[in-house]
Amino acid sequence: MRFEKKVAVVSGGNRGIGEAIVRQLANEGAQVLFLGKDVARNEKVAQDINRQHPGSTQSYSVDVTDEQAVNEWWNKVDKVFGRIDILVNNAGICHLAQPFSELADTSWQETLSVNLYGVIHLTRGSIPLLKKQGGKIVNIASLAGEVGGIATAADYVASKAAIIGLTKSLARELGPDHINVNAIAPGFVRTQMTEKMDIDLNCIPLRRIAEPEDIAAAVLFLVSEEARCITGTTLDVNGGLYLK
Ligand SMILES: NC(=O)c1ccc[n+]([C@@H]2O[C@H](COP(=O)([O-])OP(=O)(O)OC[C@H]3O[C@@H](n4cnc5c(N)ncnc54)[C@H](OP(=O)(O)O)[C@@H]3O)[C@@H](O)[C@H]2O)c1
Repeated sequence: MRFEKKVAVVSGGNRGIGEAIVRQLANEGAQVLFLGKDVARNEKVAQDINRQHPGSTQSYSVDVTDEQAVNEWWNKVDKVFGRIDILVNNAGICHLAQPFSELADTSWQETLSVNLYGVIHLTRGSIPLLKKQGGKIVNIASLAGEVGGIATAADYVASKAAIIGLTKSLARELGPDHINVNAIAPGFVRTQMTEKMDIDLNCIPLRRIAEPEDIAAAVLFLVSEEARCITGTTLDVNGGLYLK
C-alpha cells in the first residue's frame, strides 16, 4: 500500500499502458482519477477496478487537446480533492513510419496536439495542486524520441523528443517545490498502438516485447518515495533495444 492517501491522475487510462498504470496505482492504495475520450471504455475499466478496490478509481471523459475542458476539469478536481500527489502524462497517439516528405501538416498538428500540447495542458493545471505538498510527474515518452523512428513517423518522434526536453526543463523549475519530474521511454509494448507494427525480436537483446505492466512497474517506482532523489531522468524500458 505504498500510495495510500495519495491522489493520482493518469491520462489515457482506459486501455494499454495507461490502464495498467491505473490498475497498479489502485492496487497499492491510491485514489486514481483517469482521463480518456471513450466514455464506455472509461466506465468499463473504472467499474472493473472499483469491484476490486471500492471507491478507488474515477474516470473522466476529457480530451487533453482541449485546453478549456482540461482547465475546467482541474477546477473540479481542486474543489473535490484539494490536492494531487501524482500526475502521469500517458495519453498519446502514433502515426506509423512513412516518408517525412509525405507527412502533411495535418498529421503533425494531430500528433503534436495530443502528445505535446496534451501534456502541456494537463501539466500546467496540475502545478498549483502539486505545489501544495510536493509530488511527482511522470511523462511517457518513447525510445523513438531518443533514437529516431524505427516503426513510427517523424511527427511522433519529434513529439516524444520534445517530451524528454520538457521533462528536464520542468525538473529544474519544479525541483525547489519538491516536485520530481521524470520520463519513461518504452521500446515496443504490446498494446493497440503496436498491433500493426512488424517487430523483429532478434533486434531486442531480451527477445521480448514489453507488457503494459512492465511500463506501469517503472512508473510506480518513479512516483514512489524510493525515487525521491531522481528527477529529470528518462528511464528506458526497452528490453535492451537501446543501450546508451
Ligand atoms: N505501445 C508502445 O509500444 C509504446 C512505446 C513507446 C511509447 N508509448 C507511449 O505510451 C503511451 C500509451 O501508449 P499505448 O500503447 O498504451 O497506447 P493506446 O493503447 O493507443 O492507448 C492510448 C490511450 O490514450 C488515450 N488518448 C488518446 N488521445 C487522447 C486524448 N486526446 N485525450 C485523452 N486521452 C487520449 C486513449 O483513450 P481514448 O482513445 O478513449 O481517448 C487511450 O486510453 C503513449 O504516450 C505512447 O506514445 C507506447
